Amino acid sequence: MTFFALLSTLILVAVPTTQVLAHSCPCGYKDSSGHLWREAIVSTFTQNAGALDAVNADWIIATDLETQSGTATANIQYVTANVFEYQDALGLKASAYDHSGSVKCAEIFTQRDDILYGSFRMQSQVPSIPGVVFGFFTYFNDTQEQDIEFLSSDTNYYQTVHYTNQPGQLPNGNINSNAAKVVVIPGADFTTFGVHRIDWLPTSTTYSYSGNSDSGTPVTSATTITTHVPNTPSEFVINVWSNGDPEWSHGPPTADAIATLHYANLYFNSTSFSAASFNSACSAAGNVAPCSV
Ligand SMILES: *[C@@H]1O[C@H](CO)[C@@H](O)[C@H](O)[C@H]1NC(C)=O
Ligand SMILES: *[C@@H]1O[C@H](CO)[C@@H](O)[C@H](O)[C@H]1NC(C)=O
Repeated sequence: MTFFALLSTLILVAVPTTQVLAHSCPCGYKDSSGHLWREAIVSTFTQNAGALDAVNADWIIATDLETQSGTATANIQYVTANVFEYQDALGLKASAYDHSGSVKCAEIFTQRDDILYGSFRMQSQVPSIPGVVFGFFTYFNDTQEQDIEFLSSDTNYYQTVHYTNQPGQLPNGNINSNAAKVVVIPGADFTTFGVHRIDWLPTSTTYSYSGNSDSGTPVTSATTITTHVPNTPSEFVINVWSNGDPEWSHGPPTADAIATLHYANLYFNSTSFSAASFNSACSAAGNVAPCSV
């Protein structure tokens, strides 16, 4: 076989293999807590085809202007260019503020908005430039939302994470400490790649982290919130933004603030693919074992 014939055979073999792998779990995904999920969105931003190829397969890049009020000092303008291939992974950026009145920010959200319960993970590095929020969350509306948020202006921002089942405030404006938790994880360094995770069940949300300390020791943490657990089909969102609000995002940033993602893997049930349809598909595939995730 000539070199070129061999090369084209390899390419022909390689392409279908990737597609088969993406659909090779007809009996679903069993997670490390023993829960079974029917569907998955596996976005491997480090893939050879590039991070944006993975984004475009399952996500929409936000382009809206979010006009701000209250104590905010700037609007949020989501722009396509701030979702970009970065260090062989996905970069999400809030740009150095140009004093135009709007901060150029980055957001991707799933094409799907029918996600109801699941296990959602990302392997990422947080931005280290002060004045931005890096969010990883489910969203239906402002009271059906569960959030992981990193605030780069926090003291010890590299090991501080905000977990919130919205609303995180009581009607009188005070923090509802049952719904909103600020967790500091000793030994963690979120500026190195670690896995941040939301496990959404009907009566609880478990937020967790798994990474390594700077000296290489494993660091793990889990926090469960049972207040305001959402029960409405939702989309999934990842963003980096600032509105200059001294009470939350701080900033706007004076240099580009970038979150870097190796992957975002979502394992979930939806209102579009019923348990009955799933059971038929699994049975037609010979009731193979679920994939372990
Ligand atoms: C969000 O949606 C839920 C479910 O439909 C509804 O009960 C709630 O009032 C909504 N909240 C807001 C802030 O619109
Ligand atoms: C998700 O779907 C699986 C398979 O249909 C089912 O066994 C499981 O109970 C569902 N989980 C939730 C939280 O609804």
